[in-house]
Amino acid sequence: MADNDSRQGKSYFNKAILDWTAAVHAPHDAGLQQAFDAPARHGLPPIQVAPSEGKLLELLLRLAQARTVVELGTLAGYSTLRLARALPAGGKVYSLESDPRHAAIARDNVAAAGLSAKVEVLEGKALDVLPSLEAKGPFCAVFIDADKENYDRYGRWAAAHVRTGGLLLGDNAFLFEELLDDTPRALAMRRFHEEARAAFDTVCIPTPDGILLGVKR
Ligand code: SAH
Ligand code: DHB
Ligand code: MG
Repeated sequence: MADNDSRQGKSYFNKAILDWTAAVHAPHDAGLQQAFDAPARHGLPPIQVAPSEGKLLELLLRLAQARTVVELGTLAGYSTLRLARALPAGGKVYSLESDPRHAAIARDNVAAAGLSAKVEVLEGKALDVLPSLEAKGPFCAVFIDADKENYDRYGRWAAAHVRTGGLLLGDNAFLFEELLDDTPRALAMRRFHEEARAAFDTVCIPTPDGILLGVKR
């Protein structure tokens, strides 16, 4: 089989360069900085998207002229703010979070950023909460960033509830270098990739841990 690796095995990951380009293109105002710093401040895991990834989410939603977004996995609200910033007046992010403490911290950060009118943080396990959102759909975008073992189920929900031309976004699409392993969550993530391709035009953007992008057919 042909080797389509244009990098010929070399890794181009360089933290200093990522930090410099993020500072140029994806700087934080006070609201974004508070949400970005919140996991460390409150003892939550520091697993929010990187600044450049957050800015990418923002620009992709603007390109799609998104008005309604469903986010799975709020944490402290950093990506939630990035999504909300892309929406016009009257737009809404429904962000699903299973940990009540995370949800409370996120609501505070969203309020501090002045974006409460555009965000609803919904508590509960995503698979339990998603059915209650269906009447508000179809949605302009779904951003998946919660428990990795359910990405295949989340992707199926997105395929059924994203409008034509709307976006599927999936963080950690390389699964921390474990995508090709023989584990239940690796199988679920590979199914997520393969099934997304059937309902969306897709690409896996090679960020450090991969972001799956799909445009609904
Ligand atoms: N999107 C956030 C990071 C999310 S981290 C950001 O970039 O800023 C993943 C979050 O998903 C955690 O807060 C975790 O509590 C939550 N989570 C895990 N399993 C979940 C589930 N089944 N339903 C909803 N949220 C879940
Ligand atoms: C983890 C989860 C994430 O969504 C992420 O972006 C990084 C790490 C985790 O569960 O460890
Ligand atoms: Mg993630």
